[in-house]
Amino acid sequence: MRKKVILDVDTGADDAIAIMLAATCREMDLVACTTVYGNRHVDQTTTNTLAVLDHIGRQDVPVFKGADRPLVKTNNMDYASDNDGAPSSNLPVKWSHRQEDRQPAADFLVETFRTAKEPISLVALAPLTNIATCLAMEPKFTELVPDIVIMGGAHNGGNMTPAAEFNIWHDPDAAEAVFSAGFKTITLVTLDATHQALVARADCDRLASSKTAASQATAAIIRQLINAYDRSEEQISTGTAPVHDALAVASLLRPNLLRKCQGAVNVETLASPNIGQTTIDLKCKGAAARTVEIALNADGPEFVRYLTVALTGC
Ligand code: RIB
Ligand code: CA
Repeated sequence: MRKKVILDVDTGADDAIAIMLAATCREMDLVACTTVYGNRHVDQTTTNTLAVLDHIGRQDVPVFKGADRPLVKTNNMDYASDNDGAPSSNLPVKWSHRQEDRQPAADFLVETFRTAKEPISLVALAPLTNIATCLAMEPKFTELVPDIVIMGGAHNGGNMTPAAEFNIWHDPDAAEAVFSAGFKTITLVTLDATHQALVARADCDRLASSKTAASQATAAIIRQLINAYDRSEEQISTGTAPVHDALAVASLLRPNLLRKCQGAVNVETLASPNIGQTTIDLKCKGAAARTVEIALNADGPEFVRYLTVALTGC
């Protein structure tokens, strides 16, 4: 049976690849995408999401726009809209003539999980504001969602600040609410894991050779990511790039891509400069409600092999 998923995205580069992976692989049934601010303003992430789905012929997948700013700390960054309707220039996709659905993302998520006849995995690849909003709207949301996979957090150093990973940093209050809500199964795919699943230029050549729209676009996006990482101070291994969100999606169908351990995750919501830091307690003595399956390691070569096969329809 195909695995039903809903992706919560702030479509930028790696979200785009995650969407194409979920929408292309025949083992997966992409029910919908919900969007949120993060990599760009939510207007832009929504435009990007629609354009990516259209690019691979998946105009059937509905998109629901969500939050345009964090629950509490709205001073983290400027959330002014910068959307002229065109997809972001780093995405090799054309304008979509579709509009997002009128229903707000959180309303859609609560209603969908309330009425679901089959299990749907919720995959959060962005700041967790939409998910926390669902918890506020429906306290039983944790019981309605069979499993949630979150790309975020870090055990050994962040990428937004030395302490915090980008998705958690943007809305630490939402993240703390999600990690403490008591979801049945939370899988956290951290930066520690994604930085072990690196894609190289030669892998992009192989991806491009399979000639599908998804694999060609993925190759082009990752080549740009590699160039950006090579210019940045992140010291990822030269000539490679992590594809954070795609690893989180891939792990749903290939759990053996990740090495996980159980622990508690606490989020710093008050003390600058460590706002958004995730403290991972692998000997958690805390309440069972906070127990998370935490991926700190990943099988990089196997991820690259799977990505290449899956984007050709697996
Ligand atoms: O830290 C990486 C995460 O932040 C990814 O989800 C990326 O798309 C950004 O949202
Ligand atoms: Ca993302």
